[in-house]
Amino acid sequence: MSETKRDIGVVGLGTMGRNLARNLARGGYAVAGFDPDEAARESLRTSEPDHDFATPESLEGMVAVLERPRRILVMVPAGPIVDSVLGELEPLMDPGDVVIDGGNSLWHDTERREKAARDYHFMGMGVSGGAEGALVGPSMMPGGPKEGYERLRPLLESMAATSEHGHCVTWCGKGPAGHFVKMTHNGIEYGIMQILAEAVLLLRRGLGMSAAEAADVVAEWNAGDLGGFLTEITADILRVKDPQDPSRALLDQVLDTAGQKGTGRWTVLAAVELGVPIPTIAAAVDARALSSFGDVRRALATGDRREIPLSTEALRDAVFASALASYAQGFDLLKGADDEHHWSIDRVEVARIWTGGCIIRAKVLDRLMEVLGEAAGPLLAPGLASDFDARLEGWRKTVGAAASAGHLVPAMAASLTWWEQLSTGVGTARVIQAQRDRFGHHTFRRVDAPDVAAHDDWEP
Ligand code: 6PG
Repeated sequence: MSETKRDIGVVGLGTMGRNLARNLARGGYAVAGFDPDEAARESLRTSEPDHDFATPESLEGMVAVLERPRRILVMVPAGPIVDSVLGELEPLMDPGDVVIDGGNSLWHDTERREKAARDYHFMGMGVSGGAEGALVGPSMMPGGPKEGYERLRPLLESMAATSEHGHCVTWCGKGPAGHFVKMTHNGIEYGIMQILAEAVLLLRRGLGMSAAEAADVVAEWNAGDLGGFLTEITADILRVKDPQDPSRALLDQVLDTAGQKGTGRWTVLAAVELGVPIPTIAAAVDARALSSFGDVRRALATGDRREIPLSTEALRDAVFASALASYAQGFDLLKGADDEHHWSIDRVEVARIWTGGCIIRAKVLDRLMEVLGEAAGPLLAPGLASDFDARLEGWRKTVGAAASAGHLVPAMAASLTWWEQLSTGVGTARVIQAQRDRFGHHTFRRVDAPDVAAHDDWEP
């Protein structure tokens, strides 16, 4: 079969690239794969007994066996390696060929690369679902030239997860929209992970539960409104025993320092640049950063905090509302980006493709699809007012009780404050305006004449 032209080439046969190549082959597509490492090529060749992969020894060799116009999926680590692969591909490409970068690239890089790709379509695509998802069905977020998407569409649809809302792939918008959407997905992911981590801490320390008891509570949440992949794995994680001493939970032996590859930080940077508040996500990014302040934390540690009077129902409501805040802020960020860059991001479609395959898949996305369909205003939150208000009592109780006993709830507290600020008619801004006018003559607006700039010397 070596002379048969291949439908698509996959460059980079690490775990993600290999699994996506296998997924494509299982969908009936003829795949060529290239990686400079022979062991990686060999591992693709032997991965699917029923499928034959072409694995030429050079990029030129791979390009030569592709059906024209060519389709190439680049799955190499984000950063300079993408540029070097594109530099090698560039002279081999013809008009109409499509090259899609499926790594976790920074959207600014994708924007630059698309502009530089003269004779072929360059696209950026976020892929979520980890190694397992890549094989059995990820959620995919492609962006860039629509013509390129249409050429890839049948292959992407065959690879993607399916949920009750269809294939978890869509054209996310022009330019770097695909990678921007994936970055935002990861920001939301950071928020929800942190919120669940805070809930585990409160169940264990605040309510004095064992890991197994906490697992039961989180599993019960997963069966209700909080159902979703991250809730599910958190319950599972709590049940795992330490292989070195099965009398204790493995979780309690994990060093308390969180890693991060940077996508959460990129989300916060983008939000600050666009002026869109995403405090839940920012708190989660900061919590990871603070977790690595090992020496300071050791020096200041005052021991575990006290038990608190809190019901698991109140805590569940706080977790739900805070997680909803993480999604709402992510969707607000997508709107802010689209207003600024005009990429044509369809947020209902984004919510739809997150209903399956990706890390933040959850029941609440059904509700978000509804609200986003109706949202004409600048903020998603007003459409969700009843969803937040119904949980407000438990949310306030949880954050208040946690704070009074010194428990860590940075993401839940930031989420609650965000909601309180949005739903408070008159807040702190009038004092800020008076201060600005006092020291800088910046003027202010009177409530009885909001269209006219007013000034006072503010001397009592
Ligand atoms: C996904 C994940 C994936 C990955 C992140 C986590 O959607 O499949 O988000 O992209 O797990 O790289 O990144 P951190 O190392 O920053 O937590």
